[in-house]
Amino acid sequence: MPPQLKTLIPLFAIFIFLFLLGRYLLVPESFGEQGHYRFNSVAENKDLSLQYAGRDACAECHDDKALEMESDMHAGLSCEICHGPGMVHYDNPKAGQLIIPDQREHCGLCHATNLTRVDKIAQVDLADHNPDQKCIECHNPHLPWEIAE
Ligand code: HEC
Ligand code: HEC
Ligand code: HEC
Ligand code: HEC
Repeated sequence: MPPQLKTLIPLFAIFIFLFLLGRYLLVPESFGEQGHYRFNSVAENKDLSLQYAGRDACAECHDDKALEMESDMHAGLSCEICHGPGMVHYDNPKAGQLIIPDQREHCGLCHATNLTRVDKIAQVDLADHNPDQKCIECHNPHLPWEIAE
């Protein structure tokens, strides 16, 4: 046996041992059970509680609002994009507090001038477009073209 191997063989043995030890300690329990991923994550995600109820669920009780929305430019929006996650409110309307987004900045999230979306969504300059009033004093948020006098 060439003399170099006398040192290399034990070194390789140590490397292989460390590799197996590392793999034993680091690979998560259910990895590889069903494929190249941690199978437990499926169960963990399944157990998360739902946050969003969806627009059809809101319409079960607020069909007036849902109908209004369908008739105008906000028809494509979900209720919860403005009012926040509504599953708790859906289960118990008295307990679930929803957001009432009446501030100018909220409408500005989609409508404040931003060059990347200027040909997609109508844009206004918040500093210039009736700056002293809330948007909803004039625009009905569910029927944005119903302008209050
Ligand atoms: C089971 C019937 C029911 C469903 C479903 C329902 N709501 Fe309501 N909602 C109510 C009732 C009742 C009130 C009035 C509660 C109160 O006055 O305490 C209310 C109030 C509200 C309010 C006003 C809250 C306030 O503080 O003034 C908003 C906004 C609202 N709902 C939005 C939604 C949205 C968005 C959804 C869908 C995720 C939804 N609701 C689903 C029954 C329902
Ligand atoms: C563009 C944002 C936006 C969207 C989308 C939206 N809302 Fe609203 N909603 C508001 C704002 C702002 C108010 C407060 C209006 C006010 O105080 O005059 C409000 C008020 C309400 C109220 C309580 C006040 C009232 O007039 O009785 C209910 C209930 C409600 N929304 C339900 C809904 C439902 C159901 C949907 C989906 C079909 C929806 N909203 C979609 C912004 C929105
Ligand atoms: C989540 C994004 C979003 C929010 C928040 C939002 N809007 Fe809109 N809005 C839209 C989209 C999308 C349209 C339809 C596309 C367009 O602008 O032509 C629209 C259309 C409109 C229009 C009609 C524009 C036109 O082209 O004729 C008005 C007016 C309007 N919104 C006012 C408001 C007001 C006031 C608020 C706040 C209460 C608000 N919007 C909040 C997304 C939003
Ligand atoms: C004093 C009443 C009033 C207030 C407050 C107001 N608007 Fe308007 N808005 C109008 C009128 C009237 C028009 C149509 C004429 C025009 O374009 O100025 C309009 C037009 C728009 C349009 C369409 C612009 C276009 O190019 O088609 C959007 C989007 C809009 N408003 C969003 C908003 C938002 C967002 C706010 C709050 C930050 C707001 N408005 C506050 C009265 C108002």
